[in-house]
Amino acid sequence: MINFDQNATTPVDEEVLQELIRATRELDGNSSSGHALGAKAGKYLRQCRERVAKILNASDADEIVFTSGGTESDNAAVRGIAYAMRAESGRDEVVTSAIEHRAVLAPCDWLAQQGFKSTVLPVDANGVVDMSALRDALGPKTALVSIMLANNEIGTIQPIAEISKLAHEIGAKVHTDAVQAAGKLPVDVNALGVDSLSLSAHKFYGPKGVGVLYIRKGTPYECFMLGGTHEGGRRAGTVPLPQIAALTKALEVSEEKRLKHGKELRALRDQLIAELQAKVPGTHVNGSLDTCTPNTASIRFDGVYGGHLLRRMDEEGILASAGSACMWEITKPSHVLTALGLSDEQGGGTIRFSLGYSNTAAEVTEVADKLARLVPELRAQPIEK
Ligand SMILES: Cc1ncc(COP(=O)(O)O)c(C=O)c1O
Repeated sequence: MINFDQNATTPVDEEVLQELIRATRELDGNSSSGHALGAKAGKYLRQCRERVAKILNASDADEIVFTSGGTESDNAAVRGIAYAMRAESGRDEVVTSAIEHRAVLAPCDWLAQQGFKSTVLPVDANGVVDMSALRDALGPKTALVSIMLANNEIGTIQPIAEISKLAHEIGAKVHTDAVQAAGKLPVDVNALGVDSLSLSAHKFYGPKGVGVLYIRKGTPYECFMLGGTHEGGRRAGTVPLPQIAALTKALEVSEEKRLKHGKELRALRDQLIAELQAKVPGTHVNGSLDTCTPNTASIRFDGVYGGHLLRRMDEEGILASAGSACMWEITKPSHVLTALGLSDEQGGGTIRFSLGYSNTAAEVTEVADKLARLVPELRAQPIEK
């Protein structure tokens, strides 16, 4: 199989898998226990926190909270910071963008049901947040601005440092969903200027079900997960040390891959676009490659229905997705493609190719050659949705 669906999830790296097995065998204590086994686990947990803090350039290891993944981190940050800001200073407005993952949009909708005002900012045709709409939305009542660092479907990178600056000028806090950035872009909490940030291990060659919530010291935060004082009172529940050990290793491994092979990854993605455009007439790129993660290409094929094409690709051993992975069954274009201004037809003909460090130039050519056959075949058939 050729896996060009690595924004959905990445294969677990071999070194990471070995660390998961080792930590499961050797660090089986409960890090909250006072005895020797617990202390051994607690010591390693501390080291993991320090190693993650170092990669994210966080000032203090205690700013790192381990969670069950990106969805939990986003929920915890958006709900937890907005609630605490309202309690502390009466600020009851949140601002987000139209192309966020549902893990951010749904908590913002939930806040709206709890009496907050939620503003969803439009994006331009490349998916970049409209900065003048942001300036208009910011005010003395703004509690939180939550804008993703990199988009999962089209790869758009947002100007988070600039957004943080504007939000901080009026006393608001800033959360960024960096789930799609780790391993592909530098993720430096101080350069970004954010107050909180989400990561998910399975997007950077780690296991599923474990993530990070970075929370800057002093950020108002109300914990929604109740029932224990783990993670400095910011996330209740027995700490899954083997998964955290694997996440830590995965973050280090993926950062090393990014520094050593980031240019090659971009070159592969660009090769894919060039070969598709040369071999398949009526191929277009959604968004701008100048503001896009190096591994992602959102490609539109005129006159085909993405769902049909994906099924044919799957039969030929090529993995990709339409819209986003969690929307495989949904036939309408995703909210992201719609927000870019694409019509139902254009959105419906879009395939997301997302590459990883294990992909090769030969795979790219094979995919382009197969699509050069499949796309005209499908164009010749009537579209049945
Ligand atoms: C941008 C973004 N945010 C959040 C998530 C959710 O992360 P998780 O799968 O760890 O819950 C995803 C996963 O697809 C994502 O791409």
